[in-house]
Amino acid sequence: MDNQIMPREQLGICAEGNLHSVYLMFNANDGVEDQLRPSIASVAQYIYELTDQYADSAFNGFVAIGANFWDTYYPNARPALLKPFPAMNEGNRDAPAIEYDLFVHIRCDRFDILHLVANEINQMFEDLVELVDEERGFRFMDNRDLTGFVDGTENPKGRNRQQVALVSDEDPEFKGGSYIHVQKYAHNLSKWHRLPVKKQEDIIGRTKQDDIEYASEDKPLTSHIKRVNLKDSAGNSMEILRQSMPYGSIKEQGLMFISSCKTPDNFEQMLRSMIFGDGHGNHDHLMQFTKALTGSSFFAPSLDFLTQWDE
Ligand code: HEM
Repeated sequence: MDNQIMPREQLGICAEGNLHSVYLMFNANDGVEDQLRPSIASVAQYIYELTDQYADSAFNGFVAIGANFWDTYYPNARPALLKPFPAMNEGNRDAPAIEYDLFVHIRCDRFDILHLVANEINQMFEDLVELVDEERGFRFMDNRDLTGFVDGTENPKGRNRQQVALVSDEDPEFKGGSYIHVQKYAHNLSKWHRLPVKKQEDIIGRTKQDDIEYASEDKPLTSHIKRVNLKDSAGNSMEILRQSMPYGSIKEQGLMFISSCKTPDNFEQMLRSMIFGDGHGNHDHLMQFTKALTGSSFFAPSLDFLTQWDE
């Protein structure tokens, strides 16, 4: 692939938020790689074309390949930094790894379209894969997490989304791709709602109603935004693009946390800081109110990479 030309990215990676989402996690059946490659290409192309067809409803999506499945999918080369989900645990803070071979992420402002497309994609994979998990996400109020706090405020904006999320010249074969991490967090909302609002705000590090960031000196070291707002050794902000949405029903509900980034290291260091803290016992107190049920690592290659096997 020409180094100078940016391959076409899958449009769902950097898209703006939507009203609805569907998450499909698949595992590949044994020995079907040769048929699966063109099938993945068709699904990615189909999603890309629907982005135009359903532009009025802001349809978008992407297909990502699991870290543990990558070498089976494409034995010739591997995205330089692709590795399994960094499972970690400390005290009662747990980030388990549950890996899947394929992740299809589709979003739209019309749920009927998503339902139709999800069925179609499932059929396109025929009997090559098994659908092992499925969730539906939704916009809650004015872009709030189910804790009632606005989520996504400090996300990269405009073209900076691409700069944060997409691999560039550092890994030419995988340019335009993105490292994806997914964690399904089930919230303990009855416990959360028993907290006075000021205590909730101290845990997030922002006000609840108006979503105003605390002044630096007022941010508890155990607040979520203190723990994830990190700088690298050169003093630059470490950023990720979050595409999370609330999911679930009355029995189990929470946040489908989705990070996309040009490197997997930023997510890993943030998660480390949340779970292990700052070395002085200051870990993320948000973790007392939510539990990660899954943790999966993927790479979402450019559309041009995926469609080299198009039928
Ligand atoms: C910020 C919620 C998990 C990384 C925030 C904010 C909220 C929030 C309400 C403040 C508003 C905003 O800027 O978006 C949650 C919830 C989570 C969760 C409910 C899970 C239950 C995570 C995880 C990571 C993460 C696992 C990364 C490993 C970030 C980052 C920011 C942020 C980078 C922006 C910080 C800043 O620059 O101010 N989150 N989050 N979050 N979160 Fe989370």
